[in-house]
Amino acid sequence: MLRVEDLRKGFGSGATRLEVLEGIDLEVKPGELVALMGPSGCGKSTLLNIIGGLLEADAGSIDLAEFHFGMDHPRNLVELRRHGVGWVFQDFHLLDHLSALDNVALALELSGLESSAAEEEARTALDRVGLGDRETFKPDELSGGQRQRVAIARAIAGSRPLLLADEPTGNLDIKSGKETLELFKELCHEDAISVLMVTHDPVLASKADRMLLLRDGKVAASDIKEAWWSEA
Ligand SMILES: Nc1ncnc2c1ncn2[C@@H]1O[C@H](COP(=O)(O)OP(=O)(O)OP(=O)(O)O)[C@@H](O)[C@H]1O
Ligand SMILES: [Mg+2]
Repeated sequence: MLRVEDLRKGFGSGATRLEVLEGIDLEVKPGELVALMGPSGCGKSTLLNIIGGLLEADAGSIDLAEFHFGMDHPRNLVELRRHGVGWVFQDFHLLDHLSALDNVALALELSGLESSAAEEEARTALDRVGLGDRETFKPDELSGGQRQRVAIARAIAGSRPLLLADEPTGNLDIKSGKETLELFKELCHEDAISVLMVTHDPVLASKADRMLLLRDGKVAASDIKEAWWSEA
């Protein structure tokens, strides 16, 4: 479903050149929840940004559903961003003055859907994350965990096959973090959505289907789950 091959990316030039990704290979299957870990500054967000079509790689290739890209400039990846990937961020990125429903519907309208269809899909997505009864609530009337669920609804609305989540539980208490992870698992296992999630929390990572460790520009381990303590 998602296959990344020999992906390379550095920043700057000459003496200040910094090689960040030095040949990343990874795969995420349909319905799989994969946790991406690694020290601060190792390139996790850079990798997600390239997979999400926000940044071009220096070399390498990515296959995601019908999309083939990698070194393409972000301006040529509009379709990928509209239909290929959904994003979930640590700080939710919701619009404060819009209701939960409008936050989700707006994203669909921006991707080209006509407004009544967008609203209908947004409603389905909010139901899916268990917020059907909160659609008129604005972000400041929702708990942190509920806000994150609105953001997840926004990410899955429009049937995107891959969710990219950059430290999605970073601003949540332990319970809401666990619930977010459970929701990801449900979406993966029931709807065959794939999730690639950056986390610094080994307990959450141990609950993923698989863990990838990024270190020194490479994927250092692709199945180290057994090495961690797990209560799963
Ligand atoms: N646009 C840029 N220009 C120059 N350097 C950059 C740029 N973006 C990222 N970097 C550098 O690339 C390296 C990797 O950054 P990245 O944000 O991907 O790390 P990360 O693994 O997500 O870290 P964290 O866990 O702290 O979020 C860092 O050293 C960073 O300074
Ligand atoms: Mg980061």
